[in-house]
Amino acid sequence: MVAVFSGRQRQAIRLAAQFLAPYRWRAFGALVALIVTAGITLYMGQGIRLMVDHGFMTRSPQMLNESIGLFMLLVVALAIGTFSRFYLVSWIGERVVADLRKKVFDHLIDLHPGFYENNRSSEIQSRLTADTTLLQSVIGSSLSMFLRNVLMVIGGIILLFITNPKLTSIVVVALPLVVAPILIFGRRVRSLSRQSQDRVADVGSYVAEALGQIKTVQAYNHQQQDKQRFAVTAEEAFETARKRILQRSWLITLVIVLVLGAVAVMLWVGGMDVIEGTISSGELAAFVFYSLLVGSSFGTLSEVLGELQRAAGAAERIGELLQARSEIHAPVSDLLNLPQRVSGNLELQGVSFAYPSRPERNAVDALSLIINAGETLALVGPSGAGKSTLFDLLLRFYDPQQGQVLIEGMPIQRLDPLDLRRCFALVSQSPALFFGSVEDNIRYGNPAATFEQVEAAARIAHAHEFIMELADGYKTHLGDGGLGLSGGQRQRLAIARALVVDAPILLLDEATSALDAQSEYLIQEALPSLMQGRTTLVIAHRLATVQNADRIAVIDQGRLVAVGTHQQLIASNPLYARLAALQFNARDGAS
Ligand SMILES: Nc1ncnc2c1ncn2[C@@H]1O[C@H](COP(=O)(O)OP(=O)(O)O)[C@@H](O)[C@H]1O
Ligand SMILES: [Mg+2]
Repeated sequence: MVAVFSGRQRQAIRLAAQFLAPYRWRAFGALVALIVTAGITLYMGQGIRLMVDHGFMTRSPQMLNESIGLFMLLVVALAIGTFSRFYLVSWIGERVVADLRKKVFDHLIDLHPGFYENNRSSEIQSRLTADTTLLQSVIGSSLSMFLRNVLMVIGGIILLFITNPKLTSIVVVALPLVVAPILIFGRRVRSLSRQSQDRVADVGSYVAEALGQIKTVQAYNHQQQDKQRFAVTAEEAFETARKRILQRSWLITLVIVLVLGAVAVMLWVGGMDVIEGTISSGELAAFVFYSLLVGSSFGTLSEVLGELQRAAGAAERIGELLQARSEIHAPVSDLLNLPQRVSGNLELQGVSFAYPSRPERNAVDALSLIINAGETLALVGPSGAGKSTLFDLLLRFYDPQQGQVLIEGMPIQRLDPLDLRRCFALVSQSPALFFGSVEDNIRYGNPAATFEQVEAAARIAHAHEFIMELADGYKTHLGDGGLGLSGGQRQRLAIARALVVDAPILLLDEATSALDAQSEYLIQEALPSLMQGRTTLVIAHRLATVQNADRIAVIDQGRLVAVGTHQQLIASNPLYARLAALQFNARDGAS
């Protein structure tokens, strides 16, 4: 049977073994129960022989009583053994899968963001659910079925030989005839299984994408195209599954024909022997019992084998996920530690960076800049200039191809990313809210914050007023991604969240872009006190923000074009003058 599995699948089995290890005693108990129940089932055949030959044939009531008594005893033992086996095996299956899910999730959440650009997160999600469920069914039942039936086949054949060697030779001749087609079809089923699994993942991710953007879908009347595209995906999944079940159907049919055919031949030969008196009726009864046992076990084996191979595929894919290494991690040696109090001094030294998906174009290009502790620096530049990317580099979501970023004079690549990110509070361009209450969302970066701190932050971010108007105030539950809030409300919650963290460096990425003039004005009023004692980098597109800044950096096409104050830049930098004229003045006049 070992030959059925390829090298990668053996690796998958090793993975399963690794997860089984902590429960080896339960697994051992399950194995004992399994062997005991298999042994009892096999022994039943002897019981049948005794019963037929001694009970029925000799017509002795006492013998019959003894035989039936023994039989009942075996039944009780079998019941207890089966209970233990079923409970233990299912328990292990569920336990291992829970461990596996946790391990995979723990692994995924630490992976570098770039990983998710090359791998669709919805596909990964399906691996986490579908593949682990498959593994659970295998570890929780198929594997034990497999072992049980292997025992049955081996034990059954041995007992067949003991009962009647002549008849058994028929079984031995029939065996290769049964095994060969099973192996051939099993292989085909396995490769189709993997494809089938992938197609199902396609269906899942398509649904998640379309339903997640339902308003856009319907606003553009895109349903018809989506229906068609989904139908294609669903049909492909069906077609792959159909091929697989066709192969499996052939497999099962073959097994039935071959196995039961062999049984018929045996019955015929054995029946002749009973008529001639060379064997007893009890022997033939036991023999038929064993051959049926072996036959049905073989049938089950062939089915379970397919299942096991499918699971091996699932384990293989999960193993791949677990093998993905985070490219952003603490250095193996020479780890530096940040001081207890970080002043917020930042430096970019000739940093060049291109996204992995667009290696030919530098999103940040040979950029050098020193940001002093406590300073407020505004970043301005046209859309796509690389401003948000700069934040990504500061937070070390990516490592630059050239140059380095320093905090407190230390290269960030030599720090533990956890340590580094503790220094930052980020309000990103599209504020992300999570399933949970308003309060949970504000407390996100600082679980220890008191309710007073949460409320104070909300007040500064001008979120308090609208929160109080929600049904349950701070306890109001938000849907997925903060569904049910306006863009401006989301932004204010995101600002409050950043404030609760109380980090030495504040990163605001167009944090007020979705606000109405009134709330923006109020936040702008609050910003100076926020920025007090903190290094603040603010990607700005309004004059008020820019005027609060100590310096302004103008970025264009990934390059630093100029640094200075508003007045200086208006006079010296044409790009800034143009941006200022287009964006700031127009709005300034309005508000
Ligand atoms: N994940 C990504 N993969 C590839 N290219 C990206 C990615 N994110 C941004 N870019 C590209 O990098 C450039 C800079 O983007 P960004 O920093 O978001 O600009 P800004 O914030 O200044 O508007 C743009 O050309 C953008 O298309
Ligand atoms: Mg941006």
